[in-house]
Amino acid sequence: MAPRWVAGVMAAAVMAVAAVIALDNGLARTPPMGWLHWERFLCGTDCADHPSRCVSEQLFVEMADRMAAEGWRDAGYEFLCIDDCWMAPTRDGQGRLRADPERFPGGIRRLADYVHSKGLKLGIYSDVGSKTCAGFPGSYGHYELDAQTFASWGVDLLKFDGCNSGSLEQLAEGYRRMSLALNKTGRSIVYACEWPFYLRPMHQPNYTEIKQYCNHWRNFNDVYDSWNSIKSILEWTALHQDSIVKIAGPGGWNDPDMLVIGNFGLSWDQSVTQMAMWAIMAAPLFMSNDLRHISPEAKCLLQNKEVIAINQDPLGRQGYQILKDKTFELWERPLSGRAYAVAVLNQQEIGGPQNFTFSLTFLGNGLACNPACSVRQVLPASRDWGVYSWTSFLSVEVNPTGTVLLKVLAL
Ligand code: GLA
Repeated sequence: MAPRWVAGVMAAAVMAVAAVIALDNGLARTPPMGWLHWERFLCGTDCADHPSRCVSEQLFVEMADRMAAEGWRDAGYEFLCIDDCWMAPTRDGQGRLRADPERFPGGIRRLADYVHSKGLKLGIYSDVGSKTCAGFPGSYGHYELDAQTFASWGVDLLKFDGCNSGSLEQLAEGYRRMSLALNKTGRSIVYACEWPFYLRPMHQPNYTEIKQYCNHWRNFNDVYDSWNSIKSILEWTALHQDSIVKIAGPGGWNDPDMLVIGNFGLSWDQSVTQMAMWAIMAAPLFMSNDLRHISPEAKCLLQNKEVIAINQDPLGRQGYQILKDKTFELWERPLSGRAYAVAVLNQQEIGGPQNFTFSLTFLGNGLACNPACSVRQVLPASRDWGVYSWTSFLSVEVNPTGTVLLKVLAL
């Protein structure tokens, strides 16, 4: 079957690699990986009625235990991250943030010690404005003090949200000041921003500047536990790839938000699509799910070594969409060692599996399979496809809303 190309198709050739300076903290040389309580656990504060799903010390201790005991840490998921709603409603007598004393009886310091004892790192959350998105105390007016507090607790990552800031100038100034304040503590703290997301409705973000201050940054809406949400993130990313792909690299990454695999909203094929496409996009891999209740299939997919290796590829180039027709999307990501990751996504939500046939000359601007290449399927299951010549066509069968992820190695 001959694919029907549509206008707006992007060629690899236009994706020049930008020489952009990354935040000078030596961190996030590959996209960070871990677990974050938001989306799965939202702002659960009712521990009396729902002890196993409120945002509490107990929740993070239980996740830390799972991460260490069940292969997550060893697969690369090293950050255990607290999101919104961990705080007491007011600061302490010295103006410092404090954890809600009922839900975090040992405070963050004790939790950080526990997390470190499991060989993991602890992430925390605050907001550039006067309040967090859920209405807890924000860092506005306290950037230096909050950075020092987090460092003194042994925090290793800060997710810095952008709700409730007075103006766009205050938003930008706050993101810059917190970055400098974190650096000044002398502790290695990954800095995760939402700066471009909050800027974009009014302003085109200056990504060169953002990369000098942040290790990764959200561009688009919060992920939900649904296929519509995953689809909208992919669509947004493809639409804006000219401005965002070239900026990503060691030290600074575009963040399409959490992996929601293992929850309720995605089918198996849609879960495969999220895992494959987050690898193509060089996305930070933060899961938001319940590691105490997760299917063996979801666990196996999330811990898939070959996909994680693509996500973590040391060349650090983000992938991009090269073709799109009515049914299929074709994406590629240049990898180290003259290899390419290639994803074929079937967008159809009707019917059964369909075949996409394409020439290997389309890949890597004609160089991915020149003069020949080996092709290995990574997802939905690993399988060697053998050796192909430059002029060969590949025919890939893909389930509706699913993705086939391949690794192509020039010989
Ligand atoms: C915003 C962020 C989310 C989450 C919530 C918490 O919506 O984008 O990722 O942190 O706030 O309130």
